Amino acid sequence: MGIQMKGRSLLTLLDLNVKEIRFLLDEAKDFKQNRQNFIQSQPLKGKTLGMIFQKRSTRTRVSTETAMAELGGHALFLGKDDIQLGVNESLSDTAIVLGRMVSAVLARVYAHDTVESLAKHANVPVINALSDQFHPLQGLADILTIEEHLGSLKDVKIAWVGDGNNVCHTLMIASIKMGMQMDIATPIDYKPEKSIIDYCKSNASFPDQIVVTHDPIAAVENAKVVVTDTFISMGQEAETKMKLKKFEGFQVNEELIDRAAKDYIFMHCLPRHKEEVTDDVMYGSHSVVFDEAENRLHTVAAVLNNLI
Ligand code: CP
Ligand code: NVA
Repeated sequence: MGIQMKGRSLLTLLDLNVKEIRFLLDEAKDFKQNRQNFIQSQPLKGKTLGMIFQKRSTRTRVSTETAMAELGGHALFLGKDDIQLGVNESLSDTAIVLGRMVSAVLARVYAHDTVESLAKHANVPVINALSDQFHPLQGLADILTIEEHLGSLKDVKIAWVGDGNNVCHTLMIASIKMGMQMDIATPIDYKPEKSIIDYCKSNASFPDQIVVTHDPIAAVENAKVVVTDTFISMGQEAETKMKLKKFEGFQVNEELIDRAAKDYIFMHCLPRHKEEVTDDVMYGSHSVVFDEAENRLHTVAAVLNNLI
């Protein structure tokens, strides 16, 4: 049986099994190496993608629009000031109308139940382009980047230092599915959600596959991958002062990263700020942040090609 994902939504990496993730990663590598073949064969000719963005975006928007164009399809950017949604029309009506016109919908939203509701009403595949709970497109690009730089996902220890929210949740699920170990260090009030920790604990394939701590040094000890994310997620701007105080001691700097494995890589989904990582780490020889950003294109191309 081949891998069949056409017509399905991608709201979280929980929607994909291991074989499907593997297939998407392999196709992303193929797109990266043989991009001209995809551009010539135009597999998404005649397809359209409605892209709802309730928040800003550089990587997600540009990678998706580029991939749609290269695969022969068309993307419509629907920013928060461009459509009736949120001002003049309900989410369910918007979803039904879009679903009658476009081949698929991609949405960057605040609450995760917004993408769930879109998927329920749209009758076409819905792709989560970041919600408060998950960022599956980022997760796929991150796994691809780890595999490219470390050769394999086997015996990889990831250290997450920062906020236990959307990107962290996604990497936790990726770790469980792909057999990586992940130690997560967050300030006390910013642990990953209990439901995600519970999922990880009950699906772990070895003891301590996922460890949640408040000690960045313990998390980074011997890690091959050190990852952080912005401390102030989009929509949390009013909490900046309070959050920066709570995240003191969680900056990835030379002293902390000295604890990592000798051949570690540093990752960050971007955009980046100095409070979470110093320039020497961000632009140092172990940093793969721009490969990670580029991989957003190759992975989303695989997702669009298989779901639409
Ligand atoms: N990493 C990421 O999703 O970046 P953008 O907010 O620029 O899309
Ligand atoms: N946690 C960040 C990720 C940005 C790509 C946010 O939600 O803003």
